[in-house]
Amino acid sequence: MSGFAADWLALREPVDHASRNPAQAARMRAHFAEREALTIVDLGCGTGSNLRGLAGELPPRQRWHLIDGDPALLERARKDLADWAETARPSGDGLELHRDGRVIEVRFECADLTVRDLDFADVGAELVTAAALFDLVSEDWLERLVARLAARKLPIYAVLNYDGEAEWLPAAPLDGRVIAAFNRHQRGDKGFGPALGPASSEALAQLLRQHGYTYGAGTSPWVLGPAHAALIRALTDGFATAAGEIEPARRAEFAAWAQARATAETVRIGHRDIFAHA
Ligand SMILES: C[S@@+](CC[C@H](N)C(=O)[O-])C[C@H]1O[C@@H](n2cnc3c(N)ncnc32)[C@H](O)[C@@H]1O
Repeated sequence: MSGFAADWLALREPVDHASRNPAQAARMRAHFAEREALTIVDLGCGTGSNLRGLAGELPPRQRWHLIDGDPALLERARKDLADWAETARPSGDGLELHRDGRVIEVRFECADLTVRDLDFADVGAELVTAAALFDLVSEDWLERLVARLAARKLPIYAVLNYDGEAEWLPAAPLDGRVIAAFNRHQRGDKGFGPALGPASSEALAQLLRQHGYTYGAGTSPWVLGPAHAALIRALTDGFATAAGEIEPARRAEFAAWAQARATAETVRIGHRDIFAHA
């Protein structure tokens, strides 16, 4: 198990889709506008949210290769994608989906990205995308990924990378302390070595420059209000739990903070999106 619960991913999906940076989405769409067909690799696909969010922006015939290390999430992806499509039928060991005039072939691969080859020539990748993944990875791994993709001049679309900016409104005295501890927790090992956490977008941008990519970056914050009560509660608990792992002596204080802050009027969680092409 990866530790990412399918229910948590389901809770964030509509907000993730609505939060994507429109300018970077438009650049990505324009880049492939003339294409009839495209093969896309989605790293750390979870239950397939990135496919559901992007399919409408991409050419009429799509072949998606979904990779995740968690077999349970991949099984859920198979089910959720079939439910999302207008029609779905088995195709090879994957699925053929039809939705909004698009034909979408999907293949599922259970693999650990820390050991898998990162060139994706084996699956014919023409675009590599990842949602909410790069803040979990280490600098070494990201360097390896970008070097492999640059060698094949593959476009990269990395969305919803947490950028360290978080805000509960109206503000309360302990907010800053919890956010600082959470951001330290984000730099811990999430399976790839020390994680980039809030530094992931800047690290990616720097690597893209080094490898001669043309790239654009923009913010994609979650801006949450009363309509997102369940997501606010879950993420506020998540912040307090992670912060408590960094400052164990303040666990009870952070738990009380979460209890009080789960009813904040507005919560803003900062993310960044990047689209790059060679
Ligand atoms: C924050 S979730 C994002 C899921 C999905 N992209 C989304 O936007 O809903 C991160 C995903 O990366 C996967 N993951 C984490 N470490 C991994 C690894 N070493 N190899 C493959 N997948 C991994 C997790 O299983 C999880 O599905």
